[in-house]
Amino acid sequence: MCLFKVGKKWYNAVMVHRILEIGPDDRPRHDIGGFKLDEGQEYVAMDIRPERFDTAEWAKLRMEYGDKVKTVMGDRANMPFESSAFDEVLMLGSHGYAKNEVKEIERVLKNGGTVKFGMLAFGVQRFLAEWTPYLTHHGFNLEGKKEIQYQVHEGIGDDGKLYIPKEPLFEPYTILVFRKG
Ligand SMILES: C[S@@+](CC[C@H](N)C(=O)[O-])C[C@H]1O[C@@H](n2cnc3c(N)ncnc32)[C@H](O)[C@@H]1O
Repeated sequence: MCLFKVGKKWYNAVMVHRILEIGPDDRPRHDIGGFKLDEGQEYVAMDIRPERFDTAEWAKLRMEYGDKVKTVMGDRANMPFESSAFDEVLMLGSHGYAKNEVKEIERVLKNGGTVKFGMLAFGVQRFLAEWTPYLTHHGFNLEGKKEIQYQVHEGIGDDGKLYIPKEPLFEPYTILVFRKG
């Protein structure tokens, strides 16, 4: 039997590691900084605005990966997936309301699966204060924290207006990893 490893877990050739990214927008943020699927991985991107998938980045990935990459319209508070459909969920800068969404993440994740929340570092304390009670209630435990530098493509200035940085702009960014069960 052919065995391969994803993270710390071993899979055989018929097992698939399924990843769901919620609210990616115009390109995947999976593994921020560069999209790559390993053997045995499948990736589903879900966004409430399907027109966000009409970009060159998404077209290129569909060409490159075929059926292993899917883009789906859906609401993170009521997801169009069966229970226990995914091994990994990513919510990067698209969190919404803990009360509605932790319940759904718990439903679509397999036991032992992980959810990764990404945010600019200044937002971590506020996120944890709001989300930890719901995550704990639904059986999630904080497993790790990764600090990176994230390239900001647009933002809201002090004057409240949208701005696009002229030079590459990097900000401290945190990824919190919670495991179910
Ligand atoms: C601020 S952008 C974040 C984009 C990207 N993940 C990032 O890290 O920069 C929020 C994204 O979440 C999507 N979104 C907003 N509400 C949603 C919902 N209820 N369900 C699914 N996606 C949603 C938006 O359409 C948008 O693409």
